[in-house]
Amino acid sequence: MDVLTAIKTRASAVRLTAPGPTPAQLDEILKAGIQAPDHGRLQPWRFVVLCGDDRKILAKAMADMQRRKTPDAPADEIERTGLKALRAPTILVVAARITPSPKIPDVEQIVAAGAATQNMFLAAHGLGLGAMWKTGGAAYDSQVKAAIGLQSSDHIVAYLYLGTPATPGTPRENTLDGYVIRR
Ligand SMILES: Cc1cc2nc3c(=O)[nH]c(=O)nc-3n(C[C@H](O)[C@H](O)[C@H](O)COP(=O)(O)O)c2cc1C
Repeated sequence: MDVLTAIKTRASAVRLTAPGPTPAQLDEILKAGIQAPDHGRLQPWRFVVLCGDDRKILAKAMADMQRRKTPDAPADEIERTGLKALRAPTILVVAARITPSPKIPDVEQIVAAGAATQNMFLAAHGLGLGAMWKTGGAAYDSQVKAAIGLQSSDHIVAYLYLGTPATPGTPRENTLDGYVIRR
């Protein structure tokens, strides 16, 4: 798929199922990630890939987070939070680890990790896979980060859920209304 077609037809999957990316596809996706523009080539991105039973580490951490935040919540609500981590066969967690730099502000390093995420979303789409980009409370929780091997100072920019689209998304109808284009 050429790049413009990939961009124009990309949409978040509504529901994902197995199989997830093969090891070769995952390799391609990660290589697409590290081609993202990155001021100073600091490579601020950190990727954590969770497949199979490893997803349960995140599921437990998410449920524990919910229990800490809302101790009075019913058990099924806590369980539902954890189950979110099992909604796709593969989860690609993308974080930015900041290198302090007088020239390259933190925000630029975080944006580079976001650009890597979008590259990987498009790569997955180009390979015929479905993806969802989520964050939520689990992206900002130190204990969740620790459970999946990240540092509390890391900025999680995406939980990129990957799999086979059981219910594909619908690309949006974009218009350029409101833009000023001078030719
Ligand atoms: C940084 C970032 C974080 C996001 N976090 C969430 C999220 O936690 N939950 C969610 O439903 N959508 C989230 N979204 C939005 C969806 O990924 C998606 O892009 C949006 O619903 C529009 O759908 P589309 O991708 O099909 O155009 C996030 C998007 C970005 C860029």
